[in-house]
Amino acid sequence: MSTVDLVVVANRLPVDLVTGDDGVGRWQAAPGGLVTALAPALRDRGGAWVGWPGVPDAAPEPFTDPEVGDDVVLHSVALDAEEIAAHYEGVANATLWPLYHDLIAAPVYDRDWWETHRRVNARFAHAAAEVAAPGATVWVQDYQLQLVPRMLRERRPDLRIGFFLHIPFPPVELFQQLPWRTEVVQGLLGADLVGFHTPGGARNFRWLARRLCGADVDDSPIGLREAPGEVRLDGRTTRVGAFPISVDSWALAERGADATTAERAAEVRAGLGDPGTVLLGVDRLDYTKGIQARLEAYGDLLADGRLDPASTVLVQVATPSRERVDAYRRTREEVERIVGRLNGDHADLGRPVVHYLHRPLPPEELAPLYLAADVMLVTPLRDGMNLVAKEYVATRPDDSGALVLSEFTGAAEELTEAWTVNPHDVDGVSAAIADAAASGGTDDGRARMAAMRTQVREHDVARWVEAFLDALAGPDV
Ligand code: ADP
Ligand code: G6P
Repeated sequence: MSTVDLVVVANRLPVDLVTGDDGVGRWQAAPGGLVTALAPALRDRGGAWVGWPGVPDAAPEPFTDPEVGDDVVLHSVALDAEEIAAHYEGVANATLWPLYHDLIAAPVYDRDWWETHRRVNARFAHAAAEVAAPGATVWVQDYQLQLVPRMLRERRPDLRIGFFLHIPFPPVELFQQLPWRTEVVQGLLGADLVGFHTPGGARNFRWLARRLCGADVDDSPIGLREAPGEVRLDGRTTRVGAFPISVDSWALAERGADATTAERAAEVRAGLGDPGTVLLGVDRLDYTKGIQARLEAYGDLLADGRLDPASTVLVQVATPSRERVDAYRRTREEVERIVGRLNGDHADLGRPVVHYLHRPLPPEELAPLYLAADVMLVTPLRDGMNLVAKEYVATRPDDSGALVLSEFTGAAEELTEAWTVNPHDVDGVSAAIADAAASGGTDDGRARMAAMRTQVREHDVARWVEAFLDALAGPDV
């Protein structure tokens, strides 16, 4: 097998194998922010991407996909049905995901799952070791693969290993619940550089490295995009820093400025009945996204007349996600129940107040929606970054529009001019939606959008990749 100098290792490949109604398998873009951010970055640099193809037992030979780029070789890691249940649906999404997102759902701690999780992490480490050239850079991604850096270092001490966590790193009190907490911290300390979205996450991790592993840590402040801190253990140093991820701002702006996008946006608005105000939500259907909270807040505004049901429409696009995990099934039921109730209470014939699409949309359909929306609603109960917020801002061709943004997202630390909300406070969310809707065309509204557009243009995803890889290549420690 030919080896390469840059290897991305993620639980998923950037494309999923799906079987169409005709029974023929084809590759389609995988969901989520990790793929959105990393795929364009790797396309420019070339290398290998090691990941799971999204279905049981699939083990295609290494291949390329035109959407991902001819210089990115995709290496599949096969998982069987039991491994998917225990590692992916189990540890990743019923243990770590809720634990790292403030226990919005109760985490399940299952010893058998963990055994499988460990075995699957070892398989990813093995696959990465196979494709990495001598001295190569291997960049391990996200909460599903936290044991990989150490396993990889044991096999291949010659490699430069980075790790980035795409979700929040939890408060130390919550992390300490994890029965395998020391193993996770040791796993991450196998990396030369561990990156988080926020300084708080980096500081929590450093504290845990001292507390759980007895590491020697420095007490430097660790700020946003500042020099990483250091954790020393067993004669090695791991650097720990905050690298807030972003979007491909220029590509989004180009799409947003395209005449076809504007035409399609006008068609979308016309199709919605040319309402005075269009509100938009775009999410994976996940309990962390606070979709119920925003629907309830919208319902209150319709009920008390602050928004007029005859001239307001909310479009909610929700990508199906992790549908075999109980908490996700319940969330879907709740969201669909509230959508039904709001339409039952406030819609007129041919004029629903909520348009709900339970499916992913291709980028050429998403961009016109961003243009058509007067107010973008991003209300997670907890989110590592939230790229949708940045996509909305980056895609809009001018300073119109408004962003309602939960303070519990990483994005809120950067998009400080948004209409910030506590999504647990439904009255507060209603008030912010009303203010945001009224801000259209005002100097204040335009100034807010202008500041946020500058922020996402200056800090795009290419800069994020560069900052991380430069720090990883940085001084030998
Ligand atoms: P997460 O990674 O938790 O899903 P992010 O907001 O960071 O959340 O990233 C989500 C990514 O998925 C964004 O790039 C967004 O455009 C995309 N996305 C979310 N919902 C949809 C949808 N219904 N159709 C198409 N893309 C979507
Ligand atoms: C988030 C996570 C990613 C994950 C994505 C989609 O972005 O940070 O690691 O891949 O959601 O979730 P899924 O479970 O479908 O891979």
